Amino acid sequence: MSEDLKRRAAEAAAAAELRSGMLLGLGTGSTARHFVDIVGARIRAGETYRCVPTSEATRAQAEALAIPLTTLDDIEEIDLTVDGADAFDPALNLVKGGGGALLREKMVAAASKRMVVIADASKAVAQLGAFPLPVEIVRFAHGATARAVRRAFAAAGIACEPRLRRGATGEPSLTDNGNFILDCVNPGIPDPPALALRLGAIPGVVEHGLFIGLCSAVYLAREEGVAVIERKS
Ligand code: A5P
Repeated sequence: MSEDLKRRAAEAAAAAELRSGMLLGLGTGSTARHFVDIVGARIRAGETYRCVPTSEATRAQAEALAIPLTTLDDIEEIDLTVDGADAFDPALNLVKGGGGALLREKMVAAASKRMVVIADASKAVAQLGAFPLPVEIVRFAHGATARAVRRAFAAAGIACEPRLRRGATGEPSLTDNGNFILDCVNPGIPDPPALALRLGAIPGVVEHGLFIGLCSAVYLAREEGVAVIERKS
C-alpha cells in the first residue's frame, strides 16, 4: 500500500468522522500513523481531543505531537477509534496484530462507540486466513499453548502451523504487555466467530487477532477514490 493511499484513507476518515471535543482511540501501524498526524494537526489548528493510544509506539508519536492522552481507566467510553487492519472480510471481521498491538487495539475498540478501519484494497479479502493470524500468549509454557492453539484450529477444521514471532536477533518478540505472539499460518478461516470462541477459551492465550463485530466501517482507499463500507448488522 503506497503512503499516498494510506494518507488518503486517513484523510477521508478524519473528514467524515472527527468532531472537535471527541474522545478518540488511536490505532497502531503505518496507516494509523497518518491519522495520528492529522489529529495532531487538528489540535494545532485549535480543535480539542483526548486520546487513548493502542501501543507504546502510538503513545510516543502522540506525545511528540502534543496530543492530550488519557487512559481507559479514566473514561467510560471512547467516541471513535480509527485503526488499520491486516485484512478484512465482507462482514467486516478483521485480522489484526501484524504490528503486535492486538490486545490493546481490541480493548480500545471494544470500549468505543464506533471503530473504523483505514486501509487499501490489498487488505480486502473474500475470506480471512491468507494473513497469518496473530495470537498473543503468555510466555509460561508457550510451547504447550502453541499446541493447544493448533488443536483449536484443527477442531475448527483448519490446518494451522503456529510460529513463535521472533525479532531480528532471533529472540522471541515481546509485545507491549510482555507477552509472546504466535503467527498462525493457515489456509483460510471459513467461520471466524467460531474460531474466535475456540481460541479465546485456551488458558495461556491472552488475546487473538480476530476482531468480530467490532468494526463499524472501513475507509478503503483505491486509486480512483476512497470507498466507505459500513457493517450491515
Ligand atoms: C497492529 O498490531 C496491527 O493491528 C495494525 O493495525 C495492522 O498490522 C495494520 O498495519 P499497517 O497499517 O501498517 O498495514
